[in-house]
Amino acid sequence: IDDLIQDGVAGKRVFVRADLNVPLDGTAITDDGRIRAVQPTIAKLAAAGAKVIVASHLGRPKGAPDPAFSLAPAARRLGELLGQDVAFATDTVGESARSVTSQLADGQVAVLENLRFNAGETSKDDAERGAFADQLAQLADLYVGDGFGAVHRKHASVFDLPERLPHAAGDLIATEVGVLKKLTEDVKRPYVVVLGGAKVSDKLGVIDNLLKKADRILIGGGMAYTFLAAKGHEVGISLLQKDQIPVCLEYLAEAEKRGVEFVLPADVLVSADFPDLKTKAPAHPDLVASDAIPADKEGLDIGPKTRELYAAKLADAGTVFWNGPMGVFEHPDYANGTKAVAQALLDADAFTVVGGGDSAAAVRLLGFDENAFGHISTGGGASLEYLEGKTLPGLAALED
Ligand code: 3PG
Repeated sequence: IDDLIQDGVAGKRVFVRADLNVPLDGTAITDDGRIRAVQPTIAKLAAAGAKVIVASHLGRPKGAPDPAFSLAPAARRLGELLGQDVAFATDTVGESARSVTSQLADGQVAVLENLRFNAGETSKDDAERGAFADQLAQLADLYVGDGFGAVHRKHASVFDLPERLPHAAGDLIATEVGVLKKLTEDVKRPYVVVLGGAKVSDKLGVIDNLLKKADRILIGGGMAYTFLAAKGHEVGISLLQKDQIPVCLEYLAEAEKRGVEFVLPADVLVSADFPDLKTKAPAHPDLVASDAIPADKEGLDIGPKTRELYAAKLADAGTVFWNGPMGVFEHPDYANGTKAVAQALLDADAFTVVGGGDSAAAVRLLGFDENAFGHISTGGGASLEYLEGKTLPGLAALED
């Protein structure tokens, strides 16, 4: 982006592909981390006199306009953060987008409506995606890719559009790649990885790769129960991916072969009912050993013994990568596991990277100071796929 600015962006229309995919409660943004992360790039371009056109997806609408997924709240928040009026186009390449972007003065900013309201954005068909990218290209002179959270998607605005315009990477992408790259190179040991979240299948590739890099892998969250089942334990009605049990067994064997400590919860909080996340009514969970989950209950957080165990396993870490909450942290009765891991990361004298929308949001929603962590990534799937060693379409498109 600095090269682009040096060449002169004043008076030019610069398309910034951001990731403004923030969690919403109705129209209220519950965590604005992703907007704050890309705001400096937008401010920098505006200060250099560019006409900045910001575009993003939000959620997974079905290729047609859907008010529940409007980017209007994100545009408003961006305006507050920038301290300037931000125009909003109510479509992506239609009448409103053309009119709003053509009226921008130098240094002004506009946000387009959700790119996924157009089926061409996510189409698997190259021609359909290309046609949408052609339309987007007409709105701008230059392209800046800075939506790190979406770089693993081969989508029109991420992959096809930069082919059509002179392009550069923004500061957020540069920072994210710089940090994640460090984790793939020489890391300070012990290198401890904490993985949580719902599904084993989402993390297959990364576990595979991390088994070659990490010294310890601590497992929590919904994915822990498939590993516990693989070890022959009853997991009741906990989240279970039966088809992944053979894969879990393979990982456990591979960890042993490589001398990687693979740690599973020792105790868990269980309940017959999923907690009410709206009212946050007391859930009254039971505490059981992880090999004694009753048949009619599900595990919803790691227990106190596991919290202590994981804190001890993190205490001497040199490097930590954490992805995925330890339990249903949105409910106070099931937030302690995630809180304990966040606190252990802060207490350790380690380089700490938190990846994944949920864990990043959890850290902030649970009241931790995000600046106290080494790096909080805006990428969930993107950071995992980067660490898997995959080629990410949105980075490849910016490389030449
Ligand atoms: C994310 O939240 O990980 C990114 O915004 C990508 O969203 P997606 O998984 O819907 O493509």
